[in-house]
Amino acid sequence: MLIMSKQLLHNQLAKYYDRVYSFKDYLDEAVRLQNLIIKYLESGGNALLDVGCGTGLHLKHLKDDFSCTGVDVSKSMLKIARTNAKGVTFKEADMKTLNLGKQFDVIVCLLSSIGYVKTTVSLEKTIQNFSKHLKKGGLALIEPSHAKSFYVNGEPRITAYNGKDAKIARVNFTKIRQATAVLNMHVLIAERGKDAKYFVDRHELGLFGINNTLRIMKAAGLKSKYLKNGLMTGRELFVGIKK
Ligand SMILES: C[S@@+](CC[C@H](N)C(=O)[O-])C[C@H]1O[C@@H](n2cnc3c(N)ncnc32)[C@H](O)[C@@H]1O
Repeated sequence: MLIMSKQLLHNQLAKYYDRVYSFKDYLDEAVRLQNLIIKYLESGGNALLDVGCGTGLHLKHLKDDFSCTGVDVSKSMLKIARTNAKGVTFKEADMKTLNLGKQFDVIVCLLSSIGYVKTTVSLEKTIQNFSKHLKKGGLALIEPSHAKSFYVNGEPRITAYNGKDAKIARVNFTKIRQATAVLNMHVLIAERGKDAKYFVDRHELGLFGINNTLRIMKAAGLKSKYLKNGLMTGRELFVGIKK
């Protein structure tokens, strides 16, 4: 039976997430994050919050140097994060309504997680929440969805995982609808000894634009900067320091 739903990879298919993203070098990204923190952090502590932490692979490599907390809206992702990054505090929370009653030195929100809030109004609320959870001089590092120019309407893309006991192919076409990228991901999973499974996984990501994002960060009390080259090739990053 074909299952079609939104954000399957973050829910029913969460156990395949790390394999789908096995091309990413989370250790290298953690080192880059640490270098950015050394460069920009103006508060003195090491309390770090990862918002939309997913399966916790950045936290796995940051937890020895920072006092780490991870939040995500998905129970399934958090379940995996708890085994990937043992000793880290995890909480189920929606970044649009985040209220942990605590302030941090660093907030990271990586790999398009922020895009899932979709609208500019929700982005404003989310960034205000980030600001509220930062100490004075604390640092926000936000990796947005790809820029609009990355998505070519109708161009097919593929990600493949070629493990010994499992093969995963994820093919997608993106449609741009105003300021939203709609990605219909066709996911085919073949595991040893099992029937192949086929899903259509729909992701809708807000494309907020550079100036709009900087404006919202500034309005939330963050001194803000845009970096064209962030943690990996083709990925941008916003840097905000709490005034
Ligand atoms: C593409 S994954 C990125 C995960 C992780 N940061 C990484 O780099 O691998 C996006 C994550 O954002 C989470 N997410 C989506 N909307 C969210 C929200 N409103 N609040 C908190 N987390 C959210 C999803 O559950 C998913 O784990």
